[in-house]
Amino acid sequence: MSISSKPATNSYSHSQAKLSRDPNPDPEAKPTAMMDLVLVEKTLLGLFTAIIVAIVVSKLRNKRFKLPPGPLPVPIFGNWLQVGDDLNHRNLTALARRFGDILLLRMGQRNLVVVSSPDHARDVLHTQGVEFGSRTRNVVFDIFTGKGQDMVFTVYGDHWRKMRRIMTVPFFTNKVVQQNRSGWEAEAQAVIDDVKANPIAATDGIILRRRLQLMMYNNMYRIMFNRRFESEDDALFLKLKALNGERSRLAQSFEYNYGDFIPILRPFLRGYLKICKDVKERRLQLFKDYFLEERKKLVSSGGMDKSGMKCAIDHILEAEQKGEINEDNVLYIIENINVAAIETTLWSIEWGIAELVNHPDIQHKLRNELDTVLGPGVPVTEPDIQNLPYLQAVIKETLRLRMAIPLLVPHMNLHDAKLGGYDIPAESKILVNAWWLANNPELWKNPEEFRPERFFEEETKVETNGNDFRYLPFGVGRRSCPGIILALPILSITIGRLVQNFELFPPPGEKKIDTSEKGGQFSLHILKHSTIVCKPRVL
Ligand code: HEM
Repeated sequence: MSISSKPATNSYSHSQAKLSRDPNPDPEAKPTAMMDLVLVEKTLLGLFTAIIVAIVVSKLRNKRFKLPPGPLPVPIFGNWLQVGDDLNHRNLTALARRFGDILLLRMGQRNLVVVSSPDHARDVLHTQGVEFGSRTRNVVFDIFTGKGQDMVFTVYGDHWRKMRRIMTVPFFTNKVVQQNRSGWEAEAQAVIDDVKANPIAATDGIILRRRLQLMMYNNMYRIMFNRRFESEDDALFLKLKALNGERSRLAQSFEYNYGDFIPILRPFLRGYLKICKDVKERRLQLFKDYFLEERKKLVSSGGMDKSGMKCAIDHILEAEQKGEINEDNVLYIIENINVAAIETTLWSIEWGIAELVNHPDIQHKLRNELDTVLGPGVPVTEPDIQNLPYLQAVIKETLRLRMAIPLLVPHMNLHDAKLGGYDIPAESKILVNAWWLANNPELWKNPEEFRPERFFEEETKVETNGNDFRYLPFGVGRRSCPGIILALPILSITIGRLVQNFELFPPPGEKKIDTSEKGGQFSLHILKHSTIVCKPRVL
């Protein structure tokens, strides 16, 4: 509207002259129609010029670059209209089957390179780990990370190195595991006790995830702040969970792709980005007011627990006092742990339980191992895990078939680079299809089967730490997941204790639980949170 009203005033006299000769003058309609024509003409001309420029630029670039294969891009939109928004691991696998192990998609202005073989994954994550060690952000991630003031989404360089160093001692060492393991065991036991106390759990079943979510928040908030939430109805827990949920939904959605891919459409994203900014501000404020400031007060009043044990945030605040990082960085560290640690581990627990319910023979075998190695009724603890190979294999198989981050967190090359004989233009988004590497039938025997035994039969050497480029649930190399050291024992303790205490079934009348998947920009979780019948075992 505002566009067509402006030229109307500019060309007033010309229109007036025409009007006076018109036998049927309509002073309102005619000038508007004229103006509309002018506007259409201008738009078409603009579009035509843009197309010519796009073609020339792409021809010039193609001359310089030997780009990876991919579907034929059209000007402006690239391949976006052909491949659509939902570039999940399965759709990208279908594209890799057509175009090969390195393929290029032009999503509007953005280049997206998909890597689908172990050798190329090695190149991206290990051999050329520095070249491909940055992260892309888009307009939404820019908001949630303050343009990379965090650790997970920052480019490879001094800031990332500093953040990773500062976070290692408080979060990612065996000492942290030893300090926190009894807390995780207590949280898992609290889940068992609550489920046992709920008679419906044994008959109709319950959505176990809800209670496990509280457990995961408690596991991570104990490490960060030495805090826990009493119940699923705790007001602060509800607030936190809602804001984290909004943040994940807004960031993982495909809804904003158009504004990200085609910068001239960005003004139409204004409403979406405003909501993102609002959620981000409220969330960081909540971290600050209810956790950071509280902890500072407690420390300054000497009211820490008797052991004087530091929690993670005490270490991080020391780094702030030394001037190594600022308060925003502290808040973004809390933000990163909230997104990277809680839901990923929870999704994996949820998938593991779903597979055990749908494979009663495997569930039975696991329970037997726990009973035999530990003795019936002796709760599994962290040091026991090394003596429970079948439990470890169940976790490995869950992470293989149901990878929580199937495309890893997108990588990026800051400068023009080479990969598999192709040129990769600077600032391409690099997706390693880790799910396909671990589910490609040319690389694995019957990969669609949930079969933990594979790790005792044909795959005895494969570990979760990335020693085999076909199996990278936590990535490998510089940007690999530092949280693996916490995630594996939490997964084992939780799944182990549930199987020790309950027989797990689908709800009455159902043979299996629905394991349909739901993916986001780079996440994969179960579509419907399953109802699980938990029958307490009589020991
Ligand atoms: C089952 C649970 C988890 C899975 C499957 C998982 C998986 C991953 C993956 C695939 C990446 C990206 C690797 C890459 O881009 O090359 C990643 C990065 C990361 N994860 Fe995890 N993760 C889990 C749990 C955790 C936990 C518990 C924490 C923290 C306590 C954590 C913290 C991080 C951080 C900070 C990064 C970013 C590292 C960087 O960019 O340098 N993760 N994770």
